[in-house]
Amino acid sequence: MIDRRSFLRTSAIVSGAVLAGVAPVRAADAEIEITPREDGPGISAHLYGQFIEHLGGVIYDGIWVGKDSKIPNVGGIRKQFIDDMARIGVPNFRWPGGCFADGYHWRDGIGTKRPRTYNYWQASAPAGVDLTESNNFGIHEFMHLCRATGAQPYLAANMASGSPQEFHDWVTYCNAQAGTASLADERAANGDREPFGVKYWGVGNESWGCGGDMTPQEYATLYRKFVTQYPAYAPKPFLVAVGPRGHQKDMDIGWTNSFFEAMQGHRSPVDGLSIHFYTDFRNTAEKIATFNAQGWFDVIREGTRVEEVMKQHWGIVEKFDPSHHTRLIVDEWGVWYKKGEEIGAHYLLSQPLTLRDAVHTAYTLDIFNRHAEKLAMANVAQTVNCIHSLFLAEGDKFVRLPPYYVFEMYRGHMGARQANLQIRCEDLTAPTANGPATMARLSGSASTKGKSLTVTLANPSLDSPCSAVVKLSIGSITEGRGQILTHEDMTRGNTFAHPNEVKLAPFAVDVRAGRAEILIPPRAIVAIELKSV
Ligand code: AHR
Repeated sequence: MIDRRSFLRTSAIVSGAVLAGVAPVRAADAEIEITPREDGPGISAHLYGQFIEHLGGVIYDGIWVGKDSKIPNVGGIRKQFIDDMARIGVPNFRWPGGCFADGYHWRDGIGTKRPRTYNYWQASAPAGVDLTESNNFGIHEFMHLCRATGAQPYLAANMASGSPQEFHDWVTYCNAQAGTASLADERAANGDREPFGVKYWGVGNESWGCGGDMTPQEYATLYRKFVTQYPAYAPKPFLVAVGPRGHQKDMDIGWTNSFFEAMQGHRSPVDGLSIHFYTDFRNTAEKIATFNAQGWFDVIREGTRVEEVMKQHWGIVEKFDPSHHTRLIVDEWGVWYKKGEEIGAHYLLSQPLTLRDAVHTAYTLDIFNRHAEKLAMANVAQTVNCIHSLFLAEGDKFVRLPPYYVFEMYRGHMGARQANLQIRCEDLTAPTANGPATMARLSGSASTKGKSLTVTLANPSLDSPCSAVVKLSIGSITEGRGQILTHEDMTRGNTFAHPNEVKLAPFAVDVRAGRAEILIPPRAIVAIELKSV
């Protein structure tokens, strides 16, 4: 907890004011002004989406433990996973991949006799690790997960080894009313009479790479074949086209341009353009939990590039679609470190993340909130046991990683209206390989729901607290409360043995004279909820 006296001691001079016992009174390091906007874009809850793939330990063990498991489960799905996902109001799950999706045949995952099949990720498994696909988790199990957590399904159709027919059959199986189509009757016979109501469909995944190694022109042709005869069962679909590998140096601008050029004069709708943006440290020596100040800032700064990537691709979309029917979907994002620190051989790409990755998460979600008008959805890759995870799970062990808490802290933004946030403060200096670089001392976003405001802020400094006065451009703040995520050790994360090292704590918000005063310690993320008149 931060008391008012320490707040005053750590700040710079306030004009003219003198407070008994503390002289001279100092002003805040930052002034934060919020302007609620009645016409502000809605921040779709879907920006807080998740991505789960049949990859290593994500589905099998992370989520699906099986109905006969001793691990507490609901119909085979790990209970703690359901509870923790419901707790943060998970809006959607993207499934079944990723690269896996373009080799996946949905019929393998229904019924009582399921084949064992090849899984794309088998090729990356260490010797002796069997990643053969059991197909125990299929569309019914996935939909039960969605229903149990309140999430919407977002399915990726197989374009590389599948066909338009297979895609259309899957749509019919999911969305037709029982009694109207044989595939819907088959779904009912398999236990789910009510249609699944799948709205979000990804048409392929990374078709420039593992999803078929196509040119944008080839992809555009295939996309049209896949969507033209889409069976029009309710709900109206939201069709997502494969977009760029945004983390490439050139942001893959050429892909987006050529794809839309090839779509000109055709009738097929593109509701969403998928961007993949990894904060890609795979080819560096950066370690997950052993790093210095430069490593801390390198990861955070590199993550902020997603903002420029979104702006660039939005600009291209605008050229072809000035009315902005097509929205962006960042359906894979996260920090991806070099291999070698997995929790076990089976758990490909699992990463024991730290506070640094939580700060990266906060920056990313704040960027998404600030660009809410461009974005229809975003999905962190991947929820459990893979890359930028919220959890690690192994047998009966389960731990929340620091990024989980950021999703919890940012819940107030989901479905809220974006508000303008102006932060006036000095820059800070970050060490980089090329010498010192400046970056903003605070990053954040703000939103409103009626008279309630949510403000989220991150202070990336390793040594300087940042005092701030938060005010409204019109109106007064009447109440405030907050939560904080921080640790004195920047490299700290949570492990199975020590699951509560980095966790949420209450954060003091001092409301007086219509403003809120806060003191954000270094290496911290705060979320404050304010009431106003
Ligand atoms: O998230 C892991 C992989 O990264 C996905 O399968 C693929 O789409 C991306 O390259």
